Amino acid sequence: MKRVLSTLVALLLPLGIGCGVVGCHSDTEEYDEDNHGGVKLEDCVDFVLNVEGGRDVKILQLTDIQIIDSTQQRTPDRLGEGQTEMWLPEKMYDLAWKYMREAVERVQPDLIVLSGDNVYGEFDDKGTTQSALIAELDSYGIPWTLTFGNHDNETRKGVAYTCEQYAQAKNCLFLRGSVETVDGQERLLAEGNGNFNIGIVQDGELTEVVWLMDSNGHTDNDPSQNMFSEAGLMAGQIEWFRERNELLKVYNGGTSPKSIGFFHHPMRAYGDAVKKYGYSSPNNKFWGEGNALKPFSPFEIPENDNGDGGAMLEDCVYIDSSYVFHEMLKKYNCEGWFFGHYHKNSASAVYDGVRYTFGLKASLYDYHESSMIGGTEIIVGESPLAVRHVYTQYKS
Ligand SMILES: [Fe+2]
Repeated sequence: MKRVLSTLVALLLPLGIGCGVVGCHSDTEEYDEDNHGGVKLEDCVDFVLNVEGGRDVKILQLTDIQIIDSTQQRTPDRLGEGQTEMWLPEKMYDLAWKYMREAVERVQPDLIVLSGDNVYGEFDDKGTTQSALIAELDSYGIPWTLTFGNHDNETRKGVAYTCEQYAQAKNCLFLRGSVETVDGQERLLAEGNGNFNIGIVQDGELTEVVWLMDSNGHTDNDPSQNMFSEAGLMAGQIEWFRERNELLKVYNGGTSPKSIGFFHHPMRAYGDAVKKYGYSSPNNKFWGEGNALKPFSPFEIPENDNGDGGAMLEDCVYIDSSYVFHEMLKKYNCEGWFFGHYHKNSASAVYDGVRYTFGLKASLYDYHESSMIGGTEIIVGESPLAVRHVYTQYKS
């Protein structure tokens, strides 16, 4: 058991690498609801978050906090004079914590998700910024979890160290990934760092699965640390996702449980989702081939009954050139997927049954739009997915 929290209990469960995809279940065997087709919950999820039934489960996405410590520049001229002054370590409260705390107070979430570029690792070779971030998140007394962005693996402390700090943090649910041991050596079964999932259980029923994955695209390329410069999901990650979902389907009586997921970089299906709000991009010719594409123009999504919203102020590069992963999300009953990386985007819209959302940037570090700072409230569990941005303004 990892820890007991005040109202929620988070259990660290053993990895389910002992049986094959549906190897614990015979197709001819009659499904027994009590034993979930012979599949245990700990075979399908890495963590369990227990929440009382009869109410919404609230998740708060905080993205691209991207803390910079200007006293840790590797070369003296990396930052200008103004930036050096602006991003001194004593400014963390004014630039990040106060906005994050306001979002947490207003949402009162059951789980907080950081969706990458949590720390600007290039400016954290001592690891002190990561320690400060962990202390801040742990102080809320709420379970939290994370994915890595392209900047999180840049510290010279190394990926193993970075992962270990999160895994050991008091209220953090983090797993570097499923491993197998060959000749006494541990080997990660999927590319990237931080591929895992969390099962939300209400009144003993699994009501939602939360997926955390590494969409790669890191500054440094080091396969020995499972760190890759090319953005996107790799074959082992997709296979891990498929295997876990097949097991979950058996556990859940033949239908996939509802789920949502997070990684740092956006998928092309997001572009299709916001096309109906006027999005066009000369950089992304994967739709309307043969038609002249208009230049990108920033837009806001007007309030509407679809539950869509937010704004798109900058164009994107997407991690996929096909709909393969989107089709998997549909197949496995995934309600929505959440991104960060582009600090001036916060649009949320549905494409082909799946809601795609850019979280609201949670701090003033690096480039940003000052009217678009805060967190993204996500309702899941017994309720269908709903998304709402919480725009924070510091209260003196
Ligand atoms: Fe990023």
